[in-house]
Amino acid sequence: MRTLADTALALVSSGRGILAADESVRTMSQRLEGENIPATEENRRLYRELLVSTPGLSDLVSGVILCDETLRQHASVGDIEMPFAEACHRWGILPGIKVDTGTSALAGAPGALVTEGLDGLRGRLAEYAAMGAAFAKWRAVIDVTAATDYALSANAHALARYAALCQEQGLVPIVEPEVLCSGAHDIDVCAAVSDRALAAVFAELEAQRVDLGGIVLKPNLVTPGLDATPASAEEVAAATLAVLDRRVPPAVPGIAFLSGGHDNDAACRYLAALNVEAGEPSWNLTFSFGRALVSDALHQWGGEEASRAGAQAVLLANCTRAAGAVAGRAPAPLSA
Ligand code: 13P
Repeated sequence: MRTLADTALALVSSGRGILAADESVRTMSQRLEGENIPATEENRRLYRELLVSTPGLSDLVSGVILCDETLRQHASVGDIEMPFAEACHRWGILPGIKVDTGTSALAGAPGALVTEGLDGLRGRLAEYAAMGAAFAKWRAVIDVTAATDYALSANAHALARYAALCQEQGLVPIVEPEVLCSGAHDIDVCAAVSDRALAAVFAELEAQRVDLGGIVLKPNLVTPGLDATPASAEEVAAATLAVLDRRVPPAVPGIAFLSGGHDNDAACRYLAALNVEAGEPSWNLTFSFGRALVSDALHQWGGEEASRAGAQAVLLANCTRAAGAVAGRAPAPLSA
């Protein structure tokens, strides 16, 4: 029988990474409309099917994170329609499911958010596992301007409750404390907040008896804010590694970074430098990018069947660059 540790390792080893395609119905609809594609349920389905059915994707991508709507939809494998999770397994990619229900204002903490979704979570996880999901995701959102100890500990507590419930139901939890890179702060601010966020998360994971060998950590890269002067890839790698070395126990099998608003080129340069700088770390260092992999493909598709293969080629190219970064190769400069 496949253990949690087996699944976690399958997600983060072999030089592959995770594709995040779990935008909520609302966010996905906005992204479709941004490309002048009608935001219908069928178009959201077609888009996810286009992504995950890309020929060759499973050489680069170990898992895909979906949302509730997609997991309840069907996809075509050849001529055969089947539930999405089953189709992912056929394509050689583990299906995962975003299980948080978004953020709300944290009472008594102006500007801070807390992630919701614990009510009824045990039952939902059991249902997702029965539908074929192998892992789950929960994202905590931390703005550097509102990162009080209270906000960090409320979010860490919820992340650990989610992680413990996932493991109870046989799903590997992706534990995602995202320190946002919106703003003009410098890299030291991001490093300090990321350090405190991870300290709070691992204290709660331990207190709530989460098996660290059966999780995947999904943090932000440590960078300056997007409105500040960018740092070099080497600076990002050194700052990120310093935080990880201090806060992430070696029992964690893998760290899969979010892209957080950095484009494919920047995110891949940072990840490549990180893998070079890290040498042979105890954890696998890979990607769990959303926008850095899919934005170009969505634009290329434009809702047109005739553009489907072209969009898949664009996705594959971005995933190839990300997998190259896992192997320590900086992406080739983009042609104009
Ligand atoms: P981005 O890589 O676009 O930040 O998304 C990753 C993700 O899954 C956020 O929860």
